[in-house]
Amino acid sequence: MNQRLSTEIDTYTKRTSRSAEAHKKNLRHLPLGVASNYRSYDPWPLFVKEAHGSHFRDLDGNDYIDHNLCFGALMAGHGHPAIMSAVSAQLSRGTLYGMPHELEWQLAEKICARFGFEMLRFGNSGTEVTMAALRLARAATGRDKVLKFEGSYHGLHDTALVSVKPHAPDFGEAGRPVSVPGGLGVPRSAVEDVVISAFNDLEGVRSRFEQFPGQIAAIILEPIMMNVGLCMPEPGFLQGLREIATRAGALLIFDEVKTGAKLGMGGATERFAVKPDIVCLAKSIGGGLPLAAFGASRAIMDLIAQRRVFHGGTYNTNPLSMAAGLANFTQVLTRENYELVDRLSAKLEKGYKKAVAKHGLEGYVITAGANGALMFYPREIRNYRDWLGIDEDLWRQYWFGMVNRGVMCQPYWWDEQWTISVQHTEADINKHISAFEDIAEGLAKTQAENRVTQKAGRVKVRA
Ligand SMILES: Cc1ncc(COP(=O)(O)O)c(C=O)c1O
Repeated sequence: MNQRLSTEIDTYTKRTSRSAEAHKKNLRHLPLGVASNYRSYDPWPLFVKEAHGSHFRDLDGNDYIDHNLCFGALMAGHGHPAIMSAVSAQLSRGTLYGMPHELEWQLAEKICARFGFEMLRFGNSGTEVTMAALRLARAATGRDKVLKFEGSYHGLHDTALVSVKPHAPDFGEAGRPVSVPGGLGVPRSAVEDVVISAFNDLEGVRSRFEQFPGQIAAIILEPIMMNVGLCMPEPGFLQGLREIATRAGALLIFDEVKTGAKLGMGGATERFAVKPDIVCLAKSIGGGLPLAAFGASRAIMDLIAQRRVFHGGTYNTNPLSMAAGLANFTQVLTRENYELVDRLSAKLEKGYKKAVAKHGLEGYVITAGANGALMFYPREIRNYRDWLGIDEDLWRQYWFGMVNRGVMCQPYWWDEQWTISVQHTEADINKHISAFEDIAEGLAKTQAENRVTQKAGRVKVRA
């Protein structure tokens, strides 16, 4: 570990002793001391005391500008007044019915109109809706196999947990990646039904359809891949997938759990002008409460209406989430707020780019709607295997450096990205940029030292 990273971790350790104590207590009953593996990191994760607007406070009383925002689930920011007031009003009318109510058609109408599908069903998490979407696709086509992209994350169910973060040598050749289970407990039969391709490799996808003619039910993907920082689809990639799927009689599923609410009014479907057969939404559509949905044409959803595909859930359309969702779509995810977030995003990007150029850092900044990331890679990544080349310790130096300066620049882990909420201000963005300016020189020095060490290593090997 380089000296600068080690100094930042020391500082973090000293600033967050109460989180350390709480983590020890969590460890007694929760594996890894967390409720989701993604929240675990060394030396211990920050424990939150409270969160308001664009900030949160940890147990030691340190204040942070929050760009983690629950892994991008809070484009509304913390406790948005419109959401709070809708939820408070609903609290006095009941929190769970398990029976239909009028918020259902009201919110369904808004979401269908915005994302351009005819019918939807609600759920509570991204996992639930990608699982339901894949089942629908299998039912609609009578096929079992699914094509997903290496490195992509679509939730916790068996089909989704294949080749999420596979490594050499298990993952095979780049052109024809091997399906690798994402941990123990994923049945072999599930792995066999997941065909893997590299993102941005249309030829690779075509060859998979040739390899398994008439067997692939659907292509599922994030239109902008966000489990590798932020990876844009190359021009024509999404259109190409649309054509391949249509020709092969397979469905195209856009997992817009992250992009749906945050990329713009109509999500990726609108931005890229490619119409998928099924869209999955979650995270920021709920304004801070658990809410998800999958939508499609009436013809596809008829499989549920005819009781041929089963879908259910005790907590589906719980009225608190629905009230929050309706307030979110009518008062928070507005055109004006998308413009505001776009302005803040452009300002942040400019600030980062200036500091990157000034210090000659090898890396780039990339943004898409409310999301963005600093990528320590010499050129724009095209897929998961590029992303594997990111300098992890340098990223950790960046993250701890920012956190120690009061800026939670993104969730921990270099496969994530920042989110800007409608409650962030110009002052927040200025502080974010200042913190980065403060650490950029140290990052550049570490990079330069790494280059010298690598060069020396190469010379030694040759000698
Ligand atoms: C693209 C994508 N799909 C699905 C999921 C799963 O969503 P959830 O954690 O709500 O189950 C995630 C979660 O990060 C995601 O990023």
